[in-house]
Amino acid sequence: MELKKREGFSSGVAVFFATLGSAVGLGNVWKFPYMVGTNGGGAFLFVYLMCVIFVGLPVMISEIFIGRRTRKNVMGAVKKLKPNQPFWRIIAVFGMITVYLIMFFYSCVGGWVYSYIFKSLKGDFTGVTSNVSQNIFSSTVLGPIPPILWQLVVLIVVGTILIMGVQKGIEKVTKTLMPLLFILIIICDIRAVTLPGTKEGLKFLFHIDFATMTKQGVLIALGLAFFKLSLGMGTMVTYGSYFTDNNNIVGTPVKVAISDTIVSLLVGIAIFPAVFSFNMKPSSGPGLLFMTIPLVFSKLPFGNILLVLFFILCSIAATTAMISMVEVLIAYFSEERGISRKKAVIINIVIIALIGITATLSVDKTSLLGGISIFGKTLFDAFDFASSNIFMPIGGLLIAILVGWFIKKEDIEEELTNYGAIKTTWHISLYRFILKFVSPVLLVIVFLNSIGIIK
Ligand code: PHE
Repeated sequence: MELKKREGFSSGVAVFFATLGSAVGLGNVWKFPYMVGTNGGGAFLFVYLMCVIFVGLPVMISEIFIGRRTRKNVMGAVKKLKPNQPFWRIIAVFGMITVYLIMFFYSCVGGWVYSYIFKSLKGDFTGVTSNVSQNIFSSTVLGPIPPILWQLVVLIVVGTILIMGVQKGIEKVTKTLMPLLFILIIICDIRAVTLPGTKEGLKFLFHIDFATMTKQGVLIALGLAFFKLSLGMGTMVTYGSYFTDNNNIVGTPVKVAISDTIVSLLVGIAIFPAVFSFNMKPSSGPGLLFMTIPLVFSKLPFGNILLVLFFILCSIAATTAMISMVEVLIAYFSEERGISRKKAVIINIVIIALIGITATLSVDKTSLLGGISIFGKTLFDAFDFASSNIFMPIGGLLIAILVGWFIKKEDIEEELTNYGAIKTTWHISLYRFILKFVSPVLLVIVFLNSIGIIK
């Protein structure tokens, strides 16, 4: 999207794919399976789905509402919405801090994915066994130099696209490539569910046993819902500001949330059977995707070519997600601070690179930076935890309170019915009810519970 002239999206389809382009990313292919794996499987999935429905979706609609109502970047939007109440600016401040925190580790994982394109291209995974695939992953992340270089490549690609303002072009590409990624994941699923470990894998993913759930797990599921739908940080406010008057503010988020969840589930269906077939542990952590997917593809005809394609498509999904994140910062610096777009991109990419490198280096626990521990977490994990489990839920809570309690009902109805063009309104009442009474309460309970204040 070009920011200078606030052009809107051309059609409902364009708006859907652009928003989906932000939602679908490493969250689906990398974080979702690994979080489900480390937090016990089916019960976690169930809690995650509840978080998407009762918290994620209402917050997403609210963010898009704020964006289109004000047609501004996140800071400009809260200023315009509540000019005399500077308190609400904290939403923008928290949002922007979250963008940085996520980008520090997201660009690192993006680098792993980019590097896997070349590894699979070289044929490193032909006839791969589970041991070999685990070793390849360790050597990829322990570097120390190659993962940093790949992270820099990722950031340069993201920065260049943002400077050239060719996001519109990129969106066209995503529109064709996203369905391709979808098809490839389905091929992978078909192979995965015919592996010997299928039964166990699917049972792990879909069998709900609350005994496997911890308090911390509930907070993690909530954080994952925010992360997955790109919420609590102004991305959807920024995107909402590009919605045109006839784009549907309720319909689009619903469709995006459903599609995004389907993609995550399909990735889970590809990964967990493989985990059990190849004697790995579901709780293997951040390497889960990288260690299992090459094994599944190695059992397919033309597996190697398909694997290359898979990582190319994942890289593109990761890149569009990052563009939508950094756009929050660029929109703020160029619109509120009057800094040129190019300068804003360069400054932000450099900041992200400098701190992001520390996250990448911290993955090797024996290294100097790996030895740093923040509440028992490495820098990489601390950035991840703080963004998903602290900043995003607090940002989401503030957004829910702002729109649920401090915006006039008539204003919401006006915007959500596209100024009267949409005649049905029951869904708006339902949305307002959940936003007012359900989402904030759930957010507070989960949060207090996980930090041990309430039991
Ligand atoms: N939703 C993206 C993903 O799943 C990550 C993201 C978070 C993008 C926040 C933008 C804002 O990969």
